[in-house]
Amino acid sequence: MTAEIRWGVVGPGRIAENLVKDFAVVDGARAVAVASRSIDRAQAFAGRHGIDRAYGSYAEILADPDVDVLYVATPHPQHHDIALAALRAGKALLVEKAFTATTAGAEEVVAVARQTGVFVMEAMWTRFQPAVVELRELVAGGAIGEVRSVQADLGVAREYDPADRLFDLALGGGALLDLGVYVASFAQMLLGTPERVVAAGSLFPSGADAEASLLFDYGDGRTATLMTSLRNALPGQARVFGTTGWIDVLPRFHHPTTIVLHRAGAEPETITRETIGAGYAHELIEVTECVRAGRTESAVMPLADTLAVQSLLGQAAEQLGVRHAEDPAALPGDGAPPRE
Ligand SMILES: NC(=O)c1ccc[n+]([C@@H]2O[C@H](COP(=O)([O-])OP(=O)(O)OC[C@H]3O[C@@H](n4cnc5c(N)ncnc54)[C@H](OP(=O)(O)O)[C@@H]3O)[C@@H](O)[C@H]2O)c1
Repeated sequence: MTAEIRWGVVGPGRIAENLVKDFAVVDGARAVAVASRSIDRAQAFAGRHGIDRAYGSYAEILADPDVDVLYVATPHPQHHDIALAALRAGKALLVEKAFTATTAGAEEVVAVARQTGVFVMEAMWTRFQPAVVELRELVAGGAIGEVRSVQADLGVAREYDPADRLFDLALGGGALLDLGVYVASFAQMLLGTPERVVAAGSLFPSGADAEASLLFDYGDGRTATLMTSLRNALPGQARVFGTTGWIDVLPRFHHPTTIVLHRAGAEPETITRETIGAGYAHELIEVTECVRAGRTESAVMPLADTLAVQSLLGQAAEQLGVRHAEDPAALPGDGAPPRE
């Protein structure tokens, strides 16, 4: 392993376009290669971002010996196949949220990561935002007593378009996997994994979930009440309630800069923590440092938490009647025909 950690980008779509700019503010890491299903898109992306090597198939970047870590930014059902092949090729991974489309898919990726001893982490960037790190430190220091409840919402108004990945089940469509993953992961970070989840919501004609309210029941009075929607905008607010106060996480809570601490008998305290770059740099730093140190997972975004969240989302989807599946042909160039 060289001192510089060399990254490859798989699936140069909207999020990859934004995230890759944050390499400029990460020491000791560089994006050196990009792979698309189309060589034209790969070359255009490489040209825009000063990336050395462009590949017209995902299989080619897996075979590049001068790439240490892959950032997988394909739609959710197209993570599993690519992740399995990458782990077997010895490539460390940062996999976009939601980690996979199904609980079984996530379990398989984690099992192969553990067998091969190769690093993998879900790109849940919220956990690395400096304001969220501060929130965790306040809670751990007892600033609001014992955490009893979490509220969070995240929603956007999107016009229904069955061809858009947000609504197409073959591309992991629906509010739960795209936005619900943030509210579920936030609650799981603070309260742990609940005994049961209760979901109510509605579906689009495609069968993808349009909106959902979730109750996490911890069996001892602790709860999380969560909302997500692709039908209507929601403020993106979160609140963490403890026995001696609460903390507001100001919108949008999944990449916040400001939290407000409310303690019984004290004036509210506003705490601001700016992000580095557009906020993706923090997870890039974490993965870069973990890979350099030879770790197999992140202590901030552990695989057990990713599996727990994926299972909660899966249970909610099942209650709503949403049927997700992994795409077994997500790795064109690996014997399967390319999909455009
Ligand atoms: N962290 C965040 O803030 C954030 C924000 C948005 C999205 N995300 C996550 O990032 C992932 C991608 O989201 P996105 O909005 O960037 O999606 P997108 O714009 O549709 O890009 C996804 C890319 O994946 C590739 N791809 C591979 N198989 C595909 C298939 N069967 N259909 C369509 N595209 C396919 C395509 O690139 P090529 O064909 O060129 O290879 C496409 O450009 C999702 O898991 C999403 O949840 C994260």
